[in-house]
Amino acid sequence: MNEPRIVLVTGANRGLGFEICRQLAALGDSVLLSGRDLAKAEKAIVEIPRNGGAVHALALDTGSDDSVRSAVEMITRDFGRLDVLVNNAGGNFDSDHLTSTVAIDYVRETLEMNLIGAWRVTQAMLPLLRKSPRARIVNVSSGAGAFASEIGFGLQKMGGAAPAYSISKTALTAFTVKLATELKASGILINAVCPGWTATYPGGEAQGARPVAEGAAGIVWAATLPDDGPSGCFFRDGQPQPW
Ligand SMILES: NC(=O)c1ccc[n+]([C@@H]2O[C@H](COP(=O)([O-])OP(=O)(O)OC[C@H]3O[C@@H](n4cnc5c(N)ncnc54)[C@H](OP(=O)(O)O)[C@@H]3O)[C@@H](O)[C@H]2O)c1
Repeated sequence: MNEPRIVLVTGANRGLGFEICRQLAALGDSVLLSGRDLAKAEKAIVEIPRNGGAVHALALDTGSDDSVRSAVEMITRDFGRLDVLVNNAGGNFDSDHLTSTVAIDYVRETLEMNLIGAWRVTQAMLPLLRKSPRARIVNVSSGAGAFASEIGFGLQKMGGAAPAYSISKTALTAFTVKLATELKASGILINAVCPGWTATYPGGEAQGARPVAEGAAGIVWAATLPDDGPSGCFFRDGQPQPW
């Protein structure tokens, strides 16, 4: 396929999502940089150098059926297919909460943000992804949701803190495995990636978090896998991770 790949990244107006868009555009992909606030997405695309693939701003609130439907309509009308979906939108790292006391409404909001949103967008985009000869789905998950984690984050680390976030990411990785198993024969490669602890907030690098470009690189790797690449796996920096 010689024409540029059509790539959609959710939650891309800042942080890792923005950097994923920047790196994929530099590779020549046509990038749909989406955000729940269109004005923020439009502001962000201006900051991407113009010497790579085209970059378009798109309104997409992963929590809204209507918003996702509108995004599908726009992509169908303007591109007719989707080659890569990066489910990046997420957050609510609740390091000050404990499983025994966290408010259930907060747990529900976090599951909606980190699991259901990706699930909703994936279901809606699948017909467009099926039109691609080499579709890829990357779910931005976290070692915080892994049973086995050799770094400081994991279900049995942090003294049990960050319960809503961690469990939502365990579920996102499980969603990845279930979907990849179902779609094994489709040719669509679906993987979960942990970017590692990444400095997407002020002062992060001083605390030991890695530069944003490094965290994003492992996600870009999974978005650009060859046709015989893996599916249904969990990676960090291109390396399979136990979880
Ligand atoms: N940074 C890390 O150390 C780290 C480690 C492991 C995993 N991750 C994961 O990596 C992903 C990106 O993290 P980050 O550090 O770049 O976070 P970030 O800087 O806080 O950015 C999060 C992005 O998600 C967007 N978002 C949240 N809810 C949304 C919704 N309903 N619809 C559309 N967009 C929505 C935010 O939009 P607004 O700007 O409108 O709020 C923002 O663009 C997340 O899934 C996170 O859990 C991060």
